Amino acid sequence: MCGIIGYVGNQDASKIILEGLRTLEYRGYDSAGIAVLGDAGIEIRKDEGRIEEIDKKVKFGKMGGNLGIGHTRWATHGVPSKANAHPHSDCKGEIALIHNGVIENYRKLKEELLKKGHKFTSETDSEVIAHLIEEEKGKTFEERFLSALQKLEGSFAILAIAKGEKKIYGARRSSPMIIGAGKEEMFIASDIPAMLKHTKEFKVVEEGEMVVLGKGECRIIGIDNGKERTRKSFTVNWSAQSAKKDGYKHFMLKEINEQPKCVRDALASDVSSAAKLVASSDDLQMVACGSSYHSALVFKHLVQAECGKKCEVCIASEYAYSSVVGKNTCIIAISQSGETADTMSAVRFAKKKGARVIGITNVISSSLAREADECVSLNAGPEISVVATKTFMAQLAVLYKLAYEIGGKKDMIEKLKDVSHSIELALTKQGEIEKLAESLLQKQSFFYIGRGLFYPIALEGALKLKEITYLHAEGFAGGELKHGPLSLIEKGVPVIALAPNDETVHKMIGSIKECKARGAHVISISDSQEVKKESDECVMVDGVDASLFPFISICVLQLLAYYMAAKKELDPDKPRNLAKSVTVE
Ligand code: F6R
Repeated sequence: MCGIIGYVGNQDASKIILEGLRTLEYRGYDSAGIAVLGDAGIEIRKDEGRIEEIDKKVKFGKMGGNLGIGHTRWATHGVPSKANAHPHSDCKGEIALIHNGVIENYRKLKEELLKKGHKFTSETDSEVIAHLIEEEKGKTFEERFLSALQKLEGSFAILAIAKGEKKIYGARRSSPMIIGAGKEEMFIASDIPAMLKHTKEFKVVEEGEMVVLGKGECRIIGIDNGKERTRKSFTVNWSAQSAKKDGYKHFMLKEINEQPKCVRDALASDVSSAAKLVASSDDLQMVACGSSYHSALVFKHLVQAECGKKCEVCIASEYAYSSVVGKNTCIIAISQSGETADTMSAVRFAKKKGARVIGITNVISSSLAREADECVSLNAGPEISVVATKTFMAQLAVLYKLAYEIGGKKDMIEKLKDVSHSIELALTKQGEIEKLAESLLQKQSFFYIGRGLFYPIALEGALKLKEITYLHAEGFAGGELKHGPLSLIEKGVPVIALAPNDETVHKMIGSIKECKARGAHVISISDSQEVKKESDECVMVDGVDASLFPFISICVLQLLAYYMAAKKELDPDKPRNLAKSVTVE
């Protein structure tokens, strides 16, 4: 949700920032801009649209400079437009500032600044910060910056530069920010992949901290008291190549095809401490959003049905309204980014009430990883496409392992070794799924049905389709159709039935028949000949243990959504209105 990057050193800042923005574009893509500090002062170039379109017009890479900041926006306050694009300035054009987050008290601050004669050029909350710094009294820019930060309410990752200052000033509260340390140069960005080409050594900017970066300088300061803090650096083993498309047309397709390796890497994660924490509590709850919520539902089914452990799952943004939480509660929070504001709010709410937290995330430097009592890494490598595919699959792998560990099911953990082979089998169906997608291009509304473990997979399949094709898609528990949704089924409506040959198969055949009797076009994903016979079309994947069929089904559904979007010439990596890391509530 907005990507930010800054560079100070000896190289061409504008080129490094432009390249970083391209990597960060998955965080927001309605407008973008760069500011660099030159001999004559600050130069800003920005506009509405995608980075490549803007670059053609304004030639970002030709701005030069050895110090600068860049921003790619996902609009919160104010429509996507050139005026609302970041960087923003003060009245004199001596400060350039970029911001990710939401300033909750911006109206009050803006009214006060307007009374003092400040002139605003945008509708954003972010511009207020530049004017606030301008208004602050203080001997140095650092003092004015700190004093302005102390007046802000809400969430922010801010970078600012100022005329005559060969430094970048940054600050963070509830929005991610990582420092990349180089030799005689410093980087700072929302996310590690934007800096991977230049450094493998990073430092986390923690909640409520401000940073000052110069060529050989990296100072971290508490916003509350202005005191300096020390911070150890950490290294990552992600390669810069992992953030490239490697010949695939889209990141989404590349990431779907990486899934056999991802599950192997995810299963290498140690879940024993997390399992012990669960065992020591008699109240297990889970919080997550979107796809991560769907993987939590899969876990709930496994841990309850197969291990007899009661588990509640709550959409993170709803958690504080109705939860009963206390010292005996163990919360499992699932978030690929580890920064989702709704999930982090639920985690902080539960921690305040004394709950212990297990975080399951792909980003080991994230807020979730740092604030959880136990953290399990997904080990999936960077996921660049906005929609979750390989991280969802990695979540399933880790959650299966955790559930079986809790239930003491060593034989089932052993079986998980076959997961990557099962996904490889599903991937061999790409040609068939592409043809299927072609045949469905004119359809407007899709229904996904499944029972048991396959109900959350139906929800996830429908989410994938709606996110990237903008078509109506809904997932239902197979048994629920007759309680209402069946009225939506008419001639030719596609119903995608997840019907493996397990204990749900006969009831699923019943659901398929109900739909067919109303004229639906049923496409099943199955390993059962009987299901195939009852369906209009069937993606058959057989020879796999029934317990692993969710991995196969979701892989097929991801590919179906991908090919439909690609054939409609939509960009599945950057769906409209969405952003990868949702850092506002
Ligand atoms: C779906 C998707 C979103 C995320 C959700 C939570 O493809 O990507 O629904 O799953 O925003 O994100 P994380 O897992 O980062 O907390």
